[in-house]
Amino acid sequence: METSVARWRINVVAFVLFVLMLITGVAAWLLPHGGGPASAVYGLRQGLRTVHQVGALLFSLTIGIHLLLHGRYIRQNLKKFGLLKDR
Ligand code: HEM
Repeated sequence: METSVARWRINVVAFVLFVLMLITGVAAWLLPHGGGPASAVYGLRQGLRTVHQVGALLFSLTIGIHLLLHGRYIRQNLKKFGLLKDR
């Protein structure tokens, strides 16, 4: 696969996962805390937390791949600003 296509795809995946993290994070934050397993929102909050946790793993993975795909750009800039020596 061409690198520019791979970069576009991983950026779209990362954006979708970020929106998922935002929605599940804000919802888990706003829903009432406590109440115990008998309360109506308890299961919903636990479900949101599970989606948030799995999303965190997938989002971290996509950011790792994103950085790898931009490796050349990152190295060029580290050299430009004297943080990496030319070989
Ligand atoms: C984008 C906006 C985000 C918001 C508003 C948000 C909000 C929250 C909130 C409110 C909690 C506490 C949930 C609870 O215990 O009820 C939480 C937990 C957590 N967040 Fe986020 N979060 C965001 C993004 C992220 C991202 C990008 C990551 C990692 C890639 C992340 C990883 C985690 C993890 C690992 C936990 C602990 C999960 C648990 O133990 O239940 N969050 N977040």
